[in-house]
Amino acid sequence: MTEHTVGYLIGSLSKESINRRLANALINLAPDNLVFTEIEIGDLPLYNRDLDANYPAPAQRLKEHLASVDAFLFVTPEYNRSIPGSLKTAIDWGSRPWGTNSFSRKPSAVIGASPGKLGTAVAQQTLRSILGFCDSPQMNAPEAYIEFTKGLVDDDGNVTVPETEEFLANWMARFGEFITRVRAVIPPGE
Ligand SMILES: Cc1cc2nc3c(=O)[nH]c(=O)nc-3n(C[C@H](O)[C@H](O)[C@H](O)COP(=O)(O)O)c2cc1C
Repeated sequence: MTEHTVGYLIGSLSKESINRRLANALINLAPDNLVFTEIEIGDLPLYNRDLDANYPAPAQRLKEHLASVDAFLFVTPEYNRSIPGSLKTAIDWGSRPWGTNSFSRKPSAVIGASPGKLGTAVAQQTLRSILGFCDSPQMNAPEAYIEFTKGLVDDDGNVTVPETEEFLANWMARFGEFITRVRAVIPPGE
């Protein structure tokens, strides 16, 4: 099977992040042909278009990292019924300068965890809208709204509830298939 590089972005900067735990679980459950690299967002300044001609070093590093991967996985909390500002900042830097949008024509998937029953559903809809504007083909289904109960993912990234483990493994398998399909019609570099 063809290997695909997946850059994953975690919307939370917290050391205790449940979304980082979820990302670790997803990587453990992913098909073997997906290779993961974290696209870190914690050191980015707020986006400012005055700097488009001279990106600050962390934003330049972000651009280069985004360019180096085949697909994106967004694992995000919901903040006040939207996505965290840190994640929006990363997407804004990645989408510019005009004409060099790093997300264009590259496949993506969105998932998130919250202690609440809505499981980041509202934030995910917002993120889908942003990625749509950024011209990223998105996996529409299955959707995944994870209500994160205590201990759901252990320190080694193992999912402790078998039904959830099966659901997440299937979700990652579907994401792998989706990346393969998109790359078949949009070869790298086109
Ligand atoms: C500023 C802020 C806003 C939040 N807003 C929401 C929200 O709109 N919906 C929700 O389900 N949880 C909300 N929460 C609770 C988060 O889901 C919870 O803190 C979660 O652990 C964050 O994910 P993380 O552990 O990956 O950082 C909010 C938390 C913070 C700090």
